[in-house]
Amino acid sequence: MCGIIGIASNKPVSINIINSLKKLEYRGYDSAGIATLKDNSIDEKKCSGRVDELEKLLLKSPSNGNIGIGHVRWATHGIPNTVNAHPHSTENVSVVHNGIIENSDDLKKELETKGYIFKSQTDTEVITMLLTESLKNTDPLDSVFKTLSKLKGSFALGIIFKNFSDIIIGARRGSPLAVGYSNEENYLGSDSYALKSMTNKISYLDDGELCVLTKNNVSFYNVKKNKINKKIHTVSDDENVSDKGDYKNFMSKEIFEQPTTAKKCVSEYIDSLKKDINIYNFPIDPKKINKIILIGCGTAYHSCLVAKYWFEELTQIDIEIDIASEFRYRNVKFDNNNLYIFVSQSGETADTAAALEICKKNRVKTCSVVNVVESTIARNSDWVLPIHAGPEIGVASTKAFLGQLIVLYISCLKLSSARNEIDKKTYHQSIENLKKLPEAIKKTLNLETNIQLMAKEFLEARGSMFLGRGSSFPIALEGALKLKELSYLHAEGYPAGEMKHGPLALIEEGLPVIVIAPKDKYYEKTLSNMQEVISRGGKIFLITNNKKVSISENIRFGLRVPYIDDTLTPILLAVPLQLLAYHVALLKNCDIDKPRNLAKSVTVE
Ligand code: AGP
Repeated sequence: MCGIIGIASNKPVSINIINSLKKLEYRGYDSAGIATLKDNSIDEKKCSGRVDELEKLLLKSPSNGNIGIGHVRWATHGIPNTVNAHPHSTENVSVVHNGIIENSDDLKKELETKGYIFKSQTDTEVITMLLTESLKNTDPLDSVFKTLSKLKGSFALGIIFKNFSDIIIGARRGSPLAVGYSNEENYLGSDSYALKSMTNKISYLDDGELCVLTKNNVSFYNVKKNKINKKIHTVSDDENVSDKGDYKNFMSKEIFEQPTTAKKCVSEYIDSLKKDINIYNFPIDPKKINKIILIGCGTAYHSCLVAKYWFEELTQIDIEIDIASEFRYRNVKFDNNNLYIFVSQSGETADTAAALEICKKNRVKTCSVVNVVESTIARNSDWVLPIHAGPEIGVASTKAFLGQLIVLYISCLKLSSARNEIDKKTYHQSIENLKKLPEAIKKTLNLETNIQLMAKEFLEARGSMFLGRGSSFPIALEGALKLKELSYLHAEGYPAGEMKHGPLALIEEGLPVIVIAPKDKYYEKTLSNMQEVISRGGKIFLITNNKKVSISENIRFGLRVPYIDDTLTPILLAVPLQLLAYHVALLKNCDIDKPRNLAKSVTVE
């Protein structure tokens, strides 16, 4: 997704803007640009493609301004090219924008009647023109307020002004924006991660707020134009964040970090002395919870789906799962005795943040399961359960999925115990079993060599299917999502029992079908569904934990994951599917960390 950087300093800023834009590359983008103020004029440079290209432009023709804004763009309005790249500038003002201006067409028509000529196809350029128009009669701050009052939609903005060469104005509605502080230098960033190499002192703008940065000072204003104070947070220093080490890419690093992720996450939540889970202060008395609604997008939604099976197995609480982009527009009936749990790695996903906002407006209790604890979703929810996975850079979520599953499972156990719905022995045994998870994940990762061989079988395929029953069904969905987003091969995740109601028609000679069949109560049923696929020519890849299953000639490949207990099985089953998607994508020479068309942090709806 788009990313913003702004720096006000006492020295040239372009190198630091480029370095910070490189930090934002993980979000996924298709063009980049920078504008600095140099000799009392706006010096704008932009290009399609990578930040490296922009850096080359700057080497040929340096930008020496002490104040500037930079942007990486993920196209929404208009194709990814140089003209549509941000910043969008006139002689007097230059703008970078994340988000979508929903009434841009109407505003454009209005501005065209006043003689403004638009160069790009973007929605952003209307902001530049509105500012240019209002700057004729007023100062920058007032012109920004006037412009914002005309905009519908979501935005985070960074703006510089030709005639006010010491200020950057930032504004937020819907899309996140942070401010960083340093000595004789202040910063604007679409997330704190991009600012981390320059400062760990950060403030976060809330919706409707605006900031004015100079090199020595930052002022904040609320929507009523009153000056306000903002809290300054010290963000944690995560080591090795941008270091791939010996790994080819961040995704493989993150897959192989999972034993450590599991260890960290489990140790954060398990009190080994008391043999208990140290989650306290539920926002609703556990015994009074009527229903839990779990909400997320993409992989986070899949972790909610897995959790549904756990909650139904271990508690008497009614569970509903929702996709955030659907939830936010439905006519949901809210209830004070329900707990609304939002799952998000980034904590910035626009749909999930909006769904949370709706819950807040309806005054119901909210909880978030997030990786980024400084994120909008974490800050806006009543209660936060961090997953402690450390920064996840690869666009395809792997270790964060693992962390989400662990935290959801641990919360489910704790709730079940607090409601006296699990017997003490099972509760303590489940806690002990959680401690075995890191080692079992390590063993699962040892399957990599077999998975590499398996991946070759997907190269000529026209599509693939992932089948499972019970909690293996959401794991099948996740396996299919990983394969399609990384390798661009069509993959469909399906409940194995539903095949005969339609998708069986897709099975043809040699179609790869991944059957996820752990030895649980669905095992025999899943194997019968697998036979139906075999009879129709499907090429089977069986993933199980059953020691007794023999890999017959009808099964092209079999993988056996370790077993701890039935509830932890979906966590272990997810790992080989991550490796499979990774190796297929590697063989196909795909851009593993930045798959086409995708973004790490989806800050538009
Ligand atoms: C997963 O591999 C994705 N790229 C994507 O589905 C992601 O999980 C989704 O966009 C939600 O992101 P979040 O967890 O940051 O909210």
